[in-house]
Amino acid sequence: MSSLLIQNARIARADGSLFEGDLLCRDGRIARMDAAISATADETLDAGGQLLLPGVIDPQVHFREPGGEEREDLASGSLAAVAGGVTSFLEMPNTRPATTTQAALDDKLHRAKDRSLANYGFFIGATPHNLDEINHAAPACGIKVFMGSSTGDLLVSDPEDLERIFANGSRLIAVHAEDEARINARQAQFAGRTDYAAHSEIRDAECARLATALALELSIAHRRRLHVLHLSTKEEVELLRQDKPAWVTAEVIPNHLLLNTADYAELGSLVQMNPPIREAEDNDALWQALHDGVLDFIATDHAPHRLEDKQKPYPGSPSGMPGVQTSLPLIFTAHQQGRCTLAELQRWMCSGPADGYGIPNKGHIAEGRDADLVLVDAENYREVRNRDMRSRVGWSPFAGRKLTGWPLYTIVGGRVVYDHGDIRPGVFGQALAFEPGDNA
Ligand code: DOR
Repeated sequence: MSSLLIQNARIARADGSLFEGDLLCRDGRIARMDAAISATADETLDAGGQLLLPGVIDPQVHFREPGGEEREDLASGSLAAVAGGVTSFLEMPNTRPATTTQAALDDKLHRAKDRSLANYGFFIGATPHNLDEINHAAPACGIKVFMGSSTGDLLVSDPEDLERIFANGSRLIAVHAEDEARINARQAQFAGRTDYAAHSEIRDAECARLATALALELSIAHRRRLHVLHLSTKEEVELLRQDKPAWVTAEVIPNHLLLNTADYAELGSLVQMNPPIREAEDNDALWQALHDGVLDFIATDHAPHRLEDKQKPYPGSPSGMPGVQTSLPLIFTAHQQGRCTLAELQRWMCSGPADGYGIPNKGHIAEGRDADLVLVDAENYREVRNRDMRSRVGWSPFAGRKLTGWPLYTIVGGRVVYDHGDIRPGVFGQALAFEPGDNA
């Protein structure tokens, strides 16, 4: 097939230590690492002493295909991914039509083949009526349950329906945990508020706590593999800190680590999302929970909405922010500022998602592993600019921030796909495999 020799790199090991030398990829795998490799290869890169990391796995993105291609499709979303060092993604089912059947899942897999620049996996979406499909549709990384409504019309909020889903089957259930009844009640109570900051008051911390508590209770009652998506509050952290069985994982997104309600003043609806951004003390609690292992990994919830739609007055403005291109530079910059180690960054962004979803052979750099890699510029700072964003919607809530850790080369399956801003034609990702979950 193909071979790629990367010379003169600082190669990150899983423990955060660095190995200075060369790395040879052959037929999609890391074939060899050595102080100096002199093999001939189809392509040889001089890494110039820059830092080689495992490719990032983003375990929660919304790429809008089918049905919303004017906002994003699998080609544009995966382009933004590789431009941000993301070599694999897991995509959500709230497309049009929603991914709630084997046929809809097959359609997405078919669309991604030879179009997605990164490796891809898809969730199957739960409704109150598709129990058989959610347990058998394959390959799926897990079942997505919207316990509270968000973009699209997927919703399972009746506790009896939720109980049935948790009680039947064994594969991973990933929940968007917000309590629908409380959201509805508070929407009525706050009707008339047109400021974007109302969003965080309506969908308050208690909405999130109630739903996460119910999901946890059902998971414990049925010993069912649970993943809590984009956990956002200190109250939910406390719940998990008290009781987090081995079969439960949880994630956080950079928006909830790095933005808070003070940002509405300048950014308005650009920072409107579900679950909403919270308070500065929640930011701190989420960082602490990552360090403690209460939170397992980082996703982006990349949710592309057009600026013209975002400009609508509240509550007509849509919820969600693009993020797949900026997560690695944001967290790498936090690492350079001393907020986390290189071992933590790799665990949260690479090996954690691979372990959580049972994605074999990915997540760290070692001989025999898949050659999904990113060479980053660990020194220079560059400002986030809307015009550099590869998502079709072309903006970032972090525009103006100066970040480091931007990809120089992104390598998928042992082949360079992203090269200093250019895309190499003809390099595509593969469908991801998922090992059956172990509930115990
Ligand atoms: O803010 C959000 N936007 N949260 C979600 O759960 C969905 C997402 C979207 O698809 O727009």
